[in-house]
Amino acid sequence: MVGAPGRRAIEERLPSLKEELGAGFCIVNGENIADGVGITPKLAAKVLGAGADVITLGNHTWRRGEIGPYLEASEQVIRPANFSRHAPGHGLAVREAADGTPVAVLNVLGSLFLDPARSMFEVVDELVAEARNRARVIVVDVHAEATSEKVALAHWLDGKVTAVIGTHTHVQTSDARVQRGGTAALTDAGMTGPHDSVIGVKAELAIHRMRTGMPVRFEVAEGGVRIEGALVECGDDGRATAIEPVRVRFP
Ligand SMILES: [Fe+2]
Repeated sequence: MVGAPGRRAIEERLPSLKEELGAGFCIVNGENIADGVGITPKLAAKVLGAGADVITLGNHTWRRGEIGPYLEASEQVIRPANFSRHAPGHGLAVREAADGTPVAVLNVLGSLFLDPARSMFEVVDELVAEARNRARVIVVDVHAEATSEKVALAHWLDGKVTAVIGTHTHVQTSDARVQRGGTAALTDAGMTGPHDSVIGVKAELAIHRMRTGMPVRFEVAEGGVRIEGALVECGDDGRATAIEPVRVRFP
């Protein structure tokens, strides 16, 4: 979800979209909602109020100073588990779906360009084991730049979790699939925000920076807003039975 356009789309459209899709649980990546980078407690509350059950984050988690103490206390907003163990917050949340089923959500960060304290592969097994103690349905948000890292994690976790969904690149990939072991995967869920842009930023500003190599203050674009994501279906055993990309124009 990117900037005010993304947030408005979620606030106004998420409740009806959940109903149309028959979704009993909703996870949103929220690291870009505060003017394009970071998240504040107030904005997190708005997204949760609109019907998100859990908000995941990523490399921009710490852009807003006030988020640390909030993450420490929050049971619904999580940050990548492979940040420093001395950083505030958690990488795992367990919440109940509409029908009362516990759903565990994990957030991990890839290595390419993103500088986590440890590789996600070092922490993910322990994290999945912890989640398994509390829920059969487990969804992993793998926030990463490299498609290879996201595909590798989806393979590694096949049969161990319900779904591995990628975020961070803001461009929806066309590889939604349920793997042999029953784990749904999508390399990138895409972007809820203004698509008439360079991954959410006003195109002219992004291009100016790329052409000149000079620092430019980015601004969130406005046009072509879409809600993008994925709808995963699973059984009581936590095995995925279907995954469909979601791509909806707003308004
Ligand atoms: Fe990111």
